[in-house]
Amino acid sequence: MVTSNALASMATDGIRTGRSAHRSALEAGRGPSAGASLAAADADVDMAGDRIVARDVHVRYGDKVALRGTSLRMRANTCTALIGPSGCGKSTFLRCLNRMNDTIDDAHVTGEIFLDGENIYASDVDPVAVRRRVGMVFQRSNPFPKSIFENVAYGPRRLGTPKRELGELVEQSLRSGGLWEEVKDRLDESALGLSGGQQQRLCIARALAVDPDVLLMDEPASALDPIATAKLEELIGELRARVTIIIVTHNMQQAVRVAQHTAFFYMGDLVEAGTTDAIFNSPKEPKTADYVSGRFG
Ligand SMILES: Nc1ncnc2c1ncn2[C@@H]1O[C@H](COP(=O)(O)OP(=O)(O)OP(=O)(O)O)[C@@H](O)[C@H]1O
Ligand SMILES: [Mg+2]
Repeated sequence: MVTSNALASMATDGIRTGRSAHRSALEAGRGPSAGASLAAADADVDMAGDRIVARDVHVRYGDKVALRGTSLRMRANTCTALIGPSGCGKSTFLRCLNRMNDTIDDAHVTGEIFLDGENIYASDVDPVAVRRRVGMVFQRSNPFPKSIFENVAYGPRRLGTPKRELGELVEQSLRSGGLWEEVKDRLDESALGLSGGQQQRLCIARALAVDPDVLLMDEPASALDPIATAKLEELIGELRARVTIIIVTHNMQQAVRVAQHTAFFYMGDLVEAGTTDAIFNSPKEPKTADYVSGRFG
């Protein structure tokens, strides 16, 4: 857990461009019991226990429909796995959750996604602020060609964290990323010299350094060996005490190991969502049963 002054003193801006009016509602909404702030944010969204609620999300790329009316609730401080065969819209949905699809020219997104009761697609929301609160870790780790220290310090520096606090913040973030012991004596070395698994944990530490509420992970272990994968899964188990995690995985055992909730996508439709136990052991939809039992995909 990161509890130090360094993090506590970091900016916790809202996501709206006209910030001050909404700030108290947003900040009251941080943390697992977000319910109290919701009347101020959006009166008809019942988010008790939820960090993110997606309602009727459609995405197309040009004319090609990628997601058809996805609605899903993602609970605070749990890990939700998104599963399904290739091309079914998992990454597309994940990117909706922090407005990364905005960066794809022909992507069109409709519907609503509420983060602690606020629609992140509202016209006065700043996507950059959304991405600070909803961090992302990609399939291929992508450290900056900078030192290990500078990779982690990058985000806080941009947010104006004072220089004297950076050392402690970098250490805490690397500890939270499960990497500190391995790199504490080489913080000034290039991040590109780390192993694949270490680079992936560095990217997690970098994402954590700006104190996000949600971490999105798109197949974060697909390029890792079994030992690095096990470390990553252990880390996910620890991190969800502090951040809500949404992970795309093709590895069903991984979903069972790390996720409390699972959503099964198929050809642009969200077929079924529920507890991981229910999805894997008593699915309601025949397609889900076929997929989790390995009959296709
Ligand atoms: N940038 C893009 N431009 C056009 N079409 C896209 C783009 N990204 C995704 N698509 C299409 O949208 C559909 C959903 O893709 P998406 O990447 O979300 O699937 P996925 O479930 O993550 O697949 P995988 O498991 O292979 O990563 C696919 O048909 C894909 O070809
Ligand atoms: Mg994908």
